[in-house]
Amino acid sequence: MEKIHSLSGMLDLISHKTQKEDIANRIFHTEEILRNIFEGYSFSEIRTPALESSSLFKRSVGDTSDIVNKELYSFFDKNEKSITLRPEGTASVIRSVVQKKIENEKHKLWYLGPMWRYERPQKGRYRQFYQAGIEILGYPEGLAELEIVSIICSINKALGLENTVIKINHLGNNETKQNYCEALKEFLIPLSSKLDDKDFERLNKNPLRILDSKSTDTQEILKGAPKIIDYLSDSALDTLNIIKNTFADNCEIEIDPNLVRGLDYYTGFVFEAVSSSLGAQDAYLGGGRYDELCKQLGGKDLPAIGMAIGIERLASLAKTHKESKTLISFIILSSNIEPKAYKIAHKLRSINNLIDIDVQLSDGSLKSKLRRANKDNAAYALILGEDELKSKNIIVKSLLDLNSEQVTMSLKNIDSFIKKIK
Ligand code: HAM
Repeated sequence: MEKIHSLSGMLDLISHKTQKEDIANRIFHTEEILRNIFEGYSFSEIRTPALESSSLFKRSVGDTSDIVNKELYSFFDKNEKSITLRPEGTASVIRSVVQKKIENEKHKLWYLGPMWRYERPQKGRYRQFYQAGIEILGYPEGLAELEIVSIICSINKALGLENTVIKINHLGNNETKQNYCEALKEFLIPLSSKLDDKDFERLNKNPLRILDSKSTDTQEILKGAPKIIDYLSDSALDTLNIIKNTFADNCEIEIDPNLVRGLDYYTGFVFEAVSSSLGAQDAYLGGGRYDELCKQLGGKDLPAIGMAIGIERLASLAKTHKESKTLISFIILSSNIEPKAYKIAHKLRSINNLIDIDVQLSDGSLKSKLRRANKDNAAYALILGEDELKSKNIIVKSLLDLNSEQVTMSLKNIDSFIKKIK
């Protein structure tokens, strides 16, 4: 029969205890580190549905963005309602806060989950990928910006990242954005015959996005274009300089006047962290301030800033690994004693949570089970047969020290032996 494969751009993640370098282990380790960092900064978890009304993303991410234009996984449900697998988490967080009428309060929220974008799959770009994100709601520009950059520096350090740069820019308020877009259009219109189709379309729909163009011709043209930095207020420029100077000792931070983000809701401070080790898809996180979004989604005025991290990209850069616990392989030698033996293993597990106990579930000879214990890097094998059980004993074999003899221990003493293992 024909085999069924996963969809293109969607990964299965199967971790192996002993292969710390594999992508699944890296991803799960990265997620754990991020969770600890977010909780350490006193963020609370939020979990929103993977499916939302399609209109949510059109009204937030914006219908001039690539995401909404080309990349949404949208369907009609059985009720003919247009629904979409979320391409990002920010819109859902704000939808939820508005729906629960809690936009008067301040919130520091984090989330982790799959997102979907119908992009052309390539290295570091998937159609289902995982994001961890944070959203700081209710705080105007200032300390919240510093907190976000502090978190990025903490992530870089916790995962031992190398060759990273945090690019920052400021888009000003809506008025600055408008004035700048007009100046940019004025500069580009006489040169528009040199733009490719994509950038020509952007010129009409959302000129700011041209700054993000991958076309070398456009990039050349942009060298002479007006810079947003010249349109910014003193306070916006101060924000950029304060951020850069505050963390100069911790992270490499660079002001990039061409940094605009691919989503329409940003105003004010924006940023991306990139690594030269990632190849073409070099951003492992991005975000910014989006003070207008809550109102756009029918809520009240809510100053807000956030970021999302691409877990697969970050995990591929991580230099640290999950510390493994000491593993004990528990070997039962006869099917006649399985329930009693398992009960002993169950009790041992509760004695010391610094260790893992793997009861070998398969049939097989003692030799093959010891081979498996060695392959799994177990520190000890505990071996229980009918004779041992009858005499209330258990055999302890150290697998790390090849010269040590196995010892028979009474079941009474095994508790204190297990308790001492670190
Ligand atoms: P974004 O820049 O679209 O921002 O995505 C954030 C990160 O998700 C990217 O830097 C990248 O690492 C990862 N990413 C995006 N698309 C893919 C893909 N197809 N495959 C693998 N990784 C991907 C947002 O999503 C905003 N919601 C961030 C934000 C939060 N802004 C404010 N709050």
